[in-house]
Amino acid sequence: MSTWANLGLQDSASPLMEQLIFFHDHALLILVMITVLVGYLMFMLFFNSYINRFLLHGQLIEMIWTILPAIILLFIALPSLRLLYLLDEINEPSVTLKSIGHQWYWSYEYSDFNNIEFDSYMIPTNELNNEGFRLLDVDNRIVLPMNSQIRILVTAADVIHSWTIPALGVKVDGTPGRLNQTNFFINRPGLFYGQCSEICGANHSFMPIVIESVPVNYFIKWISNNL
Ligand code: CUA
Repeated sequence: MSTWANLGLQDSASPLMEQLIFFHDHALLILVMITVLVGYLMFMLFFNSYINRFLLHGQLIEMIWTILPAIILLFIALPSLRLLYLLDEINEPSVTLKSIGHQWYWSYEYSDFNNIEFDSYMIPTNELNNEGFRLLDVDNRIVLPMNSQIRILVTAADVIHSWTIPALGVKVDGTPGRLNQTNFFINRPGLFYGQCSEICGANHSFMPIVIESVPVNYFIKWISNNL
């Protein structure tokens, strides 16, 4: 979860988010190198007094500054494509969770286990206790096992919503009449917070998501208590 003065990405809690962070840092490094080079060249132009009135063309430099940026772009495009396909890969999930966006709450279904279903509303500020996070905690959390592949199916009942958990690298739109799929793998226990990220109406900011990541035997216990 993000806390005060955390302006960058959250710590990753899944292998895919780790890859996303690596790609972000890689792209940022290239961006910094280009900015420094162009900044240096622009700064140096102020001191250049050799104006060549008869210079009309320069085939070689034109070739260089056309091909070089193209090669640099490849260094961003290829890892980006790799990530895109990696995020789409489904690796034999052991649990499937269905989440349905409503105005303005999420509802969840565990279709593998006798179709357990429940609604998940944000806890209003005036009902919050000392441990709760304002605008982020919900009355019914999603409980999921850590160290297992989870498939998530996202849809919506009214308007477009988006099921987004930054620490897990998950962001899937819930669209009425469609069923979107993604998957993730949580590699540590804890609480993972997310929010809706499609502007879905007046209370868009007030439909958070909380995942409670627990060891598998705890998850089995939780499931059997709710069957
Ligand atoms: Cu649902 Cu924004």
